Amino acid sequence: MTRTEKLEMVKISTILVMMVLSMVMMTMVESSRSVDVDGDDSEILRRHLLANGLGVTPPMGWNSWNHFSCNIDENMIKQTADALVTTGLSKLGYNYVNIDDCWAEIARDNKGSLVPKKSTFPSGIKALADYVHSKGLKLGIYSDAGYFTCSKTMPGSLGYEEHDAKTFAEWGIDYLKYDNCNNDGSKPTVRYPVMTRALMKSGRPIFHSLCEWGDMHPALWGSPVGNSWRTTNDIKDTWLSMISIADMNEVYAEHARPGGWNDPDMLEVGNGGMTKEEYIVHFSIWAISKAPLLLGCDIRNMTKETMEIVANKEVIAINQDPHGVQAKKVRMEGDIEVWAGPLSGYRVALLLLNRGPSRTSITALWDDIEIPANSIVQARDLWEHKTLKQKFVGNLTATVDSHACKLYVLKPVA
Ligand SMILES: *[C@@H]1O[C@H](CO)[C@@H](O)[C@H](O)[C@H]1NC(C)=O
Ligand SMILES: *[C@@H]1O[C@H](CO)[C@@H](O)[C@H](O)[C@H]1NC(C)=O
Repeated sequence: MTRTEKLEMVKISTILVMMVLSMVMMTMVESSRSVDVDGDDSEILRRHLLANGLGVTPPMGWNSWNHFSCNIDENMIKQTADALVTTGLSKLGYNYVNIDDCWAEIARDNKGSLVPKKSTFPSGIKALADYVHSKGLKLGIYSDAGYFTCSKTMPGSLGYEEHDAKTFAEWGIDYLKYDNCNNDGSKPTVRYPVMTRALMKSGRPIFHSLCEWGDMHPALWGSPVGNSWRTTNDIKDTWLSMISIADMNEVYAEHARPGGWNDPDMLEVGNGGMTKEEYIVHFSIWAISKAPLLLGCDIRNMTKETMEIVANKEVIAINQDPHGVQAKKVRMEGDIEVWAGPLSGYRVALLLLNRGPSRTSITALWDDIEIPANSIVQARDLWEHKTLKQKFVGNLTATVDSHACKLYVLKPVA
């Protein structure tokens, strides 16, 4: 053989070896996939997502319930839309203006349609949607997979799914929170997909927020049915309620992903029941948990302190990170917890949480947060808005006040 022929032979045999190798590897990947259906093979799980293209990152906006419960009307909804724009919150991503319970008359009209309550929504929902859309925002509405909603002041959509979905689509609705009160006793796994199909049939992409309170572990079946699913009962504006809900939601971390999110309920920040530090914990955990960031306070009348929390761009960026991986508790020692989750660009979100009554020091170990042992890491403190001068190897320690947290983005630099 000539030298050129020999070289050709070497090339051809190299190509053949590589082909065989890649076939072997593909077979290995395939077989691990077929075994790992319930596990964390996001490639397979993503195939089961609701294909309406919504919720690629967790939804952000506002909902009327936590602050106003049934005391809502079209003017305050419009004023809230205005305030989302004038405060700059809409630019940060808070786009959904979501009406909760109590917006309709107790009876349907003679065509079977839901009727906006005449005393509070006299212009109708279509006009409100037009207004909200004119501000560059989206309008959300509320119904229930039962005969009446939880307030019992308006009908639910059970048995009227297609009719109501069509009405919502005609009005220009962008988001549906679908509650679970006053139902017929059948399982949510039976009732919720009926609304999913109805929304699909309506032809309008409508974010479907399943609110069955975590009763039947919707994280396990919610992805082809909704864009988010409540994992818990209702939040209250107290530290104990907030932190216990954070615990319940964390259990399902593996099931959150772009298009389908765990929902630990709406934010209470700004409603007055917790200290500033506790609200910072609340907002931080919701952000790293890739929870919907739905403000629950009066946007028209926010304190500077509330605004500082909910308008923290760096914390919002963690929530909206394209990886879409929910953080988990990686270490718990008494009142001390370390939460962490991967972010795009080899970065890691790290939360040091002190649930106890006194100030204490908390250490996060690289081993726990999946950073290679000898990596030198730069730390950005997201509430101090400071990149720490010190670089860290192997661990990071901070002193954390009672009912407070530290939130960092860690970036390996060497
Ligand atoms: C605005 O908020 C303050 C407390 O932050 C409260 O005292 C006041 O009543 C609120 N105003 C309105 C109109 O709700
Ligand atoms: C933290 O890292 C430093 C060196 O970077 C080391 O001296 C120290 O022992 C470590 N602490 C723990 C708790 O691992």
